[in-house]
Amino acid sequence: MSRRRRIYEGKAKILYEGPEPGTLIQHFKDDATAFNNKKHAVIDGKGVLNNRISEFIFTQLNSLGVPTHFIKRLNMREQLIREVEIVPLEVVVRNVAAGSLSTRLGIPEGTALPRSIIEFYYKNDELGDPMVSEEHITAFGWASPQDIDDIMALAIRVNDFLSGLFLGVGIRLVDFKIEFGRLWEGDMMRIVLADEISPDSCRLWDQSSGEKLDKDRFRRDLGGMLEAYQEVARRLGILNDNE
Ligand code: C5P
Repeated sequence: MSRRRRIYEGKAKILYEGPEPGTLIQHFKDDATAFNNKKHAVIDGKGVLNNRISEFIFTQLNSLGVPTHFIKRLNMREQLIREVEIVPLEVVVRNVAAGSLSTRLGIPEGTALPRSIIEFYYKNDELGDPMVSEEHITAFGWASPQDIDDIMALAIRVNDFLSGLFLGVGIRLVDFKIEFGRLWEGDMMRIVLADEISPDSCRLWDQSSGEKLDKDRFRRDLGGMLEAYQEVARRLGILNDNE
């Protein structure tokens, strides 16, 4: 893949030009970062697992009619995606209090929220991805009111699907982050789900033990990050018991 033109390199992924116009190749790295890059490690095999887990989820979302950028997985670390114009927002959906919500509002981690909450953060590493409101988003032109309506409707559908998927394998979906892009088809623009959904971008707690099966293992120095991601993949039926 090294001969392909590199379009963008992020903390955990690289985008290369794709084989056809309007396509890109999304490559999953083994790098784990947290606290806006202040903490970094390389976890051998993480990229392979996230590629598989994200493929599994995006394939099902596509078949449920949730529009996404995903076309197909190409190999262990790469997937073919549609080129989209990324909306500069990180959209967080929360079902249970944890992480920054608990810190900011003093709600103990693990408290079930009265209803799912959607939050927006402005994607900007230099600023540390600050939380923003719909007023900021529309005033600064990052997304239109219609875009926000579409994003919220899709975020709710993704949450419903993921909550059920994980509940079925004994995992509580605490929260997750998703990103969206604009897909142009002639003059028509559609908002589609982009980026990835993996244990890097979700909080996943074992339903009975409460054990963390996500990136908090890295953020909080709990160890066993790869094993946790393997467990998620195994429960979703992606890995065999001996993989
Ligand atoms: O840190 P916070 O509690 O706001 O994170 C909420 C959710 O969004 C978590 O599942 C976390 O993994 C995810 N997230 C992410 N990328 C970020 C910030 C948060 O995937 N830059």
